[in-house]
Amino acid sequence: MNTALVLPTHTPKLLREAVAQAAAALRAGDVIGLPTETVYGLAANALDAEAVARIFAIKGRPSTNPIIVHVADTAMLAQCTRDWTPLAQTLAKAFWPGPLTLVLKKAPQIPTNVCAGGDTVGLRWPAHAVTQAVIKACGLPLAAPSANPANQLSPTNAAHVQQLLGDKIHLILDGGQCQVGIESTVVDATGPVARILRPGMIRAEQLAAWVPLENGRGSLGSPLEGQPALSPGQHPKHYAPKARLVLASWSSPAEFLQVLGPLQTEYRRIHVLAHRAVPQQVPGVRITIIPDDVEAYARALYAELHHCDELGADVILVEAVRPDPSWQGVADRLRRGAAS
Ligand code: TXA
Ligand code: MG
Repeated sequence: MNTALVLPTHTPKLLREAVAQAAAALRAGDVIGLPTETVYGLAANALDAEAVARIFAIKGRPSTNPIIVHVADTAMLAQCTRDWTPLAQTLAKAFWPGPLTLVLKKAPQIPTNVCAGGDTVGLRWPAHAVTQAVIKACGLPLAAPSANPANQLSPTNAAHVQQLLGDKIHLILDGGQCQVGIESTVVDATGPVARILRPGMIRAEQLAAWVPLENGRGSLGSPLEGQPALSPGQHPKHYAPKARLVLASWSSPAEFLQVLGPLQTEYRRIHVLAHRAVPQQVPGVRITIIPDDVEAYARALYAELHHCDELGADVILVEAVRPDPSWQGVADRLRRGAAS
């Protein structure tokens, strides 16, 4: 049952009321749904281990996966890390507020469950007016993973959060459709060289314009057995819709039909997400066109996948995106969504 209260924020009065209610809930140790510019978060007081434990329980998240802490001023940052590195300073100045998470040595007052028992904490200053207002009103750094059950698709609007977790939380703030649409770029900023742990819409080449970057382009390591996962991107299966996701390319109507054929023998409800080679209509197949522009594509992708799930798709055939560095974040999410 989707019973969470969804509070709108689109007028100054509504925003004030929603922020006050959210801040009170967070100070009381509750977990709430909150918009950010990337995806919606499931937020709680990052300094309260019990509140953070509720996040893990609600998501069914493995305790080995650390949670990002969201801040909205420099005093809060100082509460969260004991080693604000020159690298972090440079990246924060260039990209905050924004869709970039910096992994740094944790401060003692950050509970160990936030960091999955490790010595580092992921920090982000989000660029969303509602999130910033809530953080300032409650005066607390907020631990917030994406507001979806573990391994599922992230929500990019309040209705998604209601549908995914509305039976497990009491309050969701509606800050509209997320403008970025995929999760933040996660960067290890503990040392003198930056290392990309999860690609996102802030790209390797943008980071490399400011700081030295491992491999020049960023690398994706793999988690050690029994260690906290370095990033969610390291779990092969993640960001997945309920339907099976299949990635393929086609350059002509004939090739499209060749790709479709085997799927038609196996599945009944087939949905296609195309952005370049727009296929012809095929009876019984639902075709959606996403803009062929990486920012617009990222903004639309999860909403389209959620919509396919809502319509009861058995399989979603997604046209593979170009192997261009600027599409790396989107390509990563599609690859993980398609992993079985
Ligand atoms: O855009 C985003 O990052 C969204 C919004 C809500 O801020 N949050 C998000 O959280 O995507 P989540 O939990 O779904 O993915 C964040 C990932 C974690 O799974 C974790 O692997 C990585 O960031 N992370 C967090 N803390 C870390 C740490 N201390 N060291 C390495 N990776 C960390
Ligand atoms: Mg997530």
